[in-house]
Amino acid sequence: MKLLVLLVVLAYSVTARIIDEKCDGIIVHNINHIKEVLKDNIDSPYQLAIDYDTNMLFFSYSSYDNVSKFISAYINLKTNEFQIIDGVNGGFANGVDGRSNTVYIGGNDGLYKFDFESKRAQHIDGTAHNIWQIFFKNDLYYTNYPLENVYVYKDGKSQRVPELLQTKAMLVAIDNNDNIYYSNSSGLFVHKKAKNYVTFLGDYNLNGITSDITGNLFFSTPDGIYFIDDKSKKIEKLATIPNIYGMAVESDGNIIYASQDSLVRLKPTKTHCFVNEKPEVEVF
Ligand SMILES: *[C@@H]1O[C@H](CO)[C@@H](O)[C@H](O)[C@H]1NC(C)=O
Ligand SMILES: *[C@@H]1O[C@H](CO)[C@@H](O)[C@H](O)[C@H]1NC(C)=O
Repeated sequence: MKLLVLLVVLAYSVTARIIDEKCDGIIVHNINHIKEVLKDNIDSPYQLAIDYDTNMLFFSYSSYDNVSKFISAYINLKTNEFQIIDGVNGGFANGVDGRSNTVYIGGNDGLYKFDFESKRAQHIDGTAHNIWQIFFKNDLYYTNYPLENVYVYKDGKSQRVPELLQTKAMLVAIDNNDNIYYSNSSGLFVHKKAKNYVTFLGDYNLNGITSDITGNLFFSTPDGIYFIDDKSKKIEKLATIPNIYGMAVESDGNIIYASQDSLVRLKPTKTHCFVNEKPEVEVF
């Protein structure tokens, strides 16, 4: 009996060690993920948006050759080809209308459309705002800086989003039920469409919010990535990753995030890891 216990303990500790050794990546939903660097040597990549039709990831980054400025760029997610997008003044925000395959870029003097032929962006009429973030859902939503107001751009004109006239927001996103999620320095909030009511979701310091191809919402903070689970009314911390600058979700569900100097894909392995940190779960 004693021997059996000893054997069981030995066997267990050997297995445990093997599991531990394989769980040295980023663990999301009990699956070990390895980091695949898609682009490095890039300063502060922000505001990631994927055009699912062409598999292009749009983002902005900082450049400091004599003055600091923001530059728009993309990488092709199949080939990793990197290209700077010319024609934008202070290109910072990116958003994609997946139905018409239009890529919008927000600069310091309004909105631009990306031209897939020339790989340049062209200013479009209707706003001269300094644009901080763009989120596309049926219409184009954007926030401006430093006022932190939320606008919707429609038929060549922009106007304040009526539900958010009384509040500031740096980042905005709309879910499949027309609820409006927004963040400001006080945290993350949701304006519930059905009840015309605002709920505080937590003291998160958001630096990016995005949707996957089906409209599920995810966000990043400087310490990790989160999923807004509107079915079970929870916010789930997917992974702790220090120094995150933003994120996007590929059409197959793979997560791409920006670190201080690179763009990284989290590639799932076949390894299950039971050593997961406790998921941080909040109910709203
Ligand atoms: C950048 O540096 C060059 C050369 O020193 C200078 O002529 C130019 O005015 C500078 N540009 C800005 C925007 O400061
Ligand atoms: C953030 O939004 C909430 C909810 O709309 C609002 O009560 C709060 O005053 C805002 N915070 C700031 C700093 O504007």
